[in-house]
Amino acid sequence: MDQNAKKKAVAEAAVKYIKADTIVGVGTGSTVNFFIDALAEIKHTIVGAVSSSDASTERLKAHGIEVFSLNEVDALDVYVDGADEITEHKHMIKGGGAALTREKIVAAVAKTFVCIVDDSKQVPVLGNFPLPVEVIPMARSYVARELVKLGGDPVYREGVITDNGNVILDVHNLSIVNPRELETTINGLVGVVTNGIFANRGADVVLVATENGVLTLD
Ligand code: 5RP
Repeated sequence: MDQNAKKKAVAEAAVKYIKADTIVGVGTGSTVNFFIDALAEIKHTIVGAVSSSDASTERLKAHGIEVFSLNEVDALDVYVDGADEITEHKHMIKGGGAALTREKIVAAVAKTFVCIVDDSKQVPVLGNFPLPVEVIPMARSYVARELVKLGGDPVYREGVITDNGNVILDVHNLSIVNPRELETTINGLVGVVTNGIFANRGADVVLVATENGVLTLD
């Protein structure tokens, strides 16, 4: 099975977590795109969605799914999103698609975070995938120097502006043995909007597409 077939399989498996008459939190990325397509099949049973990026909003609307602003919504039952890396502790690196800040906000509101990945995303320790950090543009060089002090090698993601009007530094060569602590430390740097470690609010359920089908880790 190729990676796209795995992404589709795991995205379709996430649909069973969606309850009737609810608003669904929707992440961003190629795996989530398959989820949005699968959600379209049951769109008559849901109220609509809250989206974590302009790209996902566009795809949801193209399917005729109503998209609500997060500020209009008191609670979200489920948030479905992918990841760039995930550990057995359900800690993740996210933000390969530059949507990390909105993803973290929507995840914070949701009761249950269902993470959908193929098995290439499973790792023993986070950090092989460069850690995305969203930064206010004027703070880019300062934050980069501070990230070097933390042992990383930040690289400016040229040509990318986030949906929030900010820039991304991808931090290479980090071995993230204490993800909760590093998430908090980097978020404490002045000029950082957020970083792509999702450990203080990790996933609740992980669906993993493998050659032998979709496994559920909860
Ligand atoms: C976007 C993300 C995505 O969830 C992550 O990059 C995984 O994407 P894909 O499903 O395309 O591999 O965090 O900001």
